[in-house]
Amino acid sequence: MENNMNIPENKPERKKVIFSGIQPTSGAFTLGNYLGAVKNWGLLQDEYNCAYCIVNQHAITVRQDPKELKSNTLSAYALMLACGIDPKKSIAFIQSHVSTHAELAWVLNCYTQFGELSRMTQFKDINAGLFTYPSLMAADILLYQTDLVPVGIDQKQHLELSRDIAVRFNGLYGNTFRIPDAYIPKTSAKIMSLADPTKKMSKSDENVKATVFLLDSKDSIIKKFKSAVTDSEMEVVYREGKDGINNLMSIYSAITKKSYEEIQREFEGKGYGDFKTAVGETVAEELRPIREEYDRLMADKAYLESCYRDGAQKARTISQRTLDKVYKKIGFLPASL
Ligand code: TRP
Repeated sequence: MENNMNIPENKPERKKVIFSGIQPTSGAFTLGNYLGAVKNWGLLQDEYNCAYCIVNQHAITVRQDPKELKSNTLSAYALMLACGIDPKKSIAFIQSHVSTHAELAWVLNCYTQFGELSRMTQFKDINAGLFTYPSLMAADILLYQTDLVPVGIDQKQHLELSRDIAVRFNGLYGNTFRIPDAYIPKTSAKIMSLADPTKKMSKSDENVKATVFLLDSKDSIIKKFKSAVTDSEMEVVYREGKDGINNLMSIYSAITKKSYEEIQREFEGKGYGDFKTAVGETVAEELRPIREEYDRLMADKAYLESCYRDGAQKARTISQRTLDKVYKKIGFLPASL
């Protein structure tokens, strides 16, 4: 443990801060987003001070239809609550409502090297926003003096850049930002495409059978699992080379908490067909209450609005403290003396 004795905010009773974000997309989150990240977010709310954000400013780094972006943002927010994020326990907000994010991102851009960002993206044919996507993400995280960032493994390099930027800034101006760590829970499953289990499950897959969305109907979920690509063997067992079966087993295990050995025993002597049906039904059953809660929330727009307004208010207050500190350190003249 590092010695933080001189940092007053670090009194032992200070709850650690968790921050995470998710992009608003049509069809909302995938089963991969859910099992890999969002399901865990809800479980952290009692132990930590959590802030969860729908990152619509990151979303516009690729072309969006304005109407769709707007409705996807509301729907992603409702779905986040439906997944168990409690706006009374956590700060649940929408990025564009809290202007400190864009403000800090500008400052951080000036402390981030072109070369560092080039390593993140293939920057052929991209806009400046996509190029600087990682510094906006660093701003999101650093504004809240975040300790831990629960994300999928794919976000690790972005998080490392956030740390580098924070360390650099602290080195120049003295302690300003807490250095965040990635929080990739051991149980966080990396969910693969149902059509090509060597690829990550992605919201933008062209093959409609590849991806399960949280708001898919029960029938469509079961159909997608029935058509999941497996192998030509017959044994339900977790083994190298059996990517399709391994993926189905890890989905089934993430939901039922059964170990691979237990699953193997459960399906001993049964064919892949039975196993796929069981996984499909288990997933549909897991998602049913989320869908019901989502429908209920979407029917009450006034309640949703009150939640995201309140979330933005709290986020503004906390993030402004960090931004004030940064502005002072870099020599911005205060608007009022
Ligand atoms: N880049 C993240 C993703 O695509 C989304 C994100 C934006 C994020 N800002 C964040 C995640 C801050 C964690 C913390 O999944």
